[in-house]
Amino acid sequence: MSTVFPSSTFRPTSIRCSNDRQALFNRIAPVYDNLNDLLSLGQHRIWKRMAVSWTQAKMGDRVLDVCCGSADFIPHSSLHLSLQSPKSNLPLEELAAGVIGLDFSKEQLMVASSRSFTKNCFKNIEWVEGDALDLPFADNYFDAITMGYGLRNVVDKRKAMQEILRVLKPGSNVSILDFNKSNELLTSSITEWMIDNIVVPVASVYGLSDDYRYLKRSIREFLTGKELEKLALDVGFSTARHYEIGGGLMGCLVAKN
Ligand SMILES: C[S@@+](CC[C@H](N)C(=O)[O-])C[C@H]1O[C@@H](n2cnc3c(N)ncnc32)[C@H](O)[C@@H]1O
Repeated sequence: MSTVFPSSTFRPTSIRCSNDRQALFNRIAPVYDNLNDLLSLGQHRIWKRMAVSWTQAKMGDRVLDVCCGSADFIPHSSLHLSLQSPKSNLPLEELAAGVIGLDFSKEQLMVASSRSFTKNCFKNIEWVEGDALDLPFADNYFDAITMGYGLRNVVDKRKAMQEILRVLKPGSNVSILDFNKSNELLTSSITEWMIDNIVVPVASVYGLSDDYRYLKRSIREFLTGKELEKLALDVGFSTARHYEIGGGLMGCLVAKN
């Protein structure tokens, strides 16, 4: 049986930030999920599940997915939480205090809120239209935070990390999955070759080649694993560790408040 978020809510807040990036993510929203599956050959699901498990989220936790987009991370959070339960068929509201997905793209959130899932544990989810650089939540509010392919896209990475730290409870973890900006020439060449020869041509079928060309530049301008660890420690996280996954093409920063 499929459920279309019967108890999810949609909370808009005011946003002050990069209009061009917001427009880009609004444009690609209808095909974003399909392209992810196609371009990663389904591997992104494994990487997302690994990232969620590294938060060490457990039953009863309040979880935030920053830059949730079309909510591709939320099923993995929910699945992770349900697997922590001896009765994994419990509804999510009995497993988690709440899962919130935040994004500044209204179109992505529309896709998120219309997703249907086959398990009854995807309830008690709230969608918040908001800015990762000015999170509309109280200090020390969340037990676990995930962010997938979001940090690379925000205009101020330091501010985003400071905001995550502010709303994360002491002792809790954030797990940030993204492309790995590698120092290895071979790995970075493979990434760029794949973008030029696979990602952009496939995106062009959907009329989105220009939007996906932005990917190469954003990875070049992103931080290496060591730089991400340093950024996390600089803003005040107590520990930070970057893991290379997917043959070094992806990376996941796990940091503890
Ligand atoms: C590449 S998508 C990732 C979506 C999803 N997390 C996933 O893993 O598939 C990046 C998302 O970041 C969002 N985003 C970028 N900057 C943002 C900001 N300042 N505040 C909120 N969302 C932002 C975009 O709207 C987009 O949905």
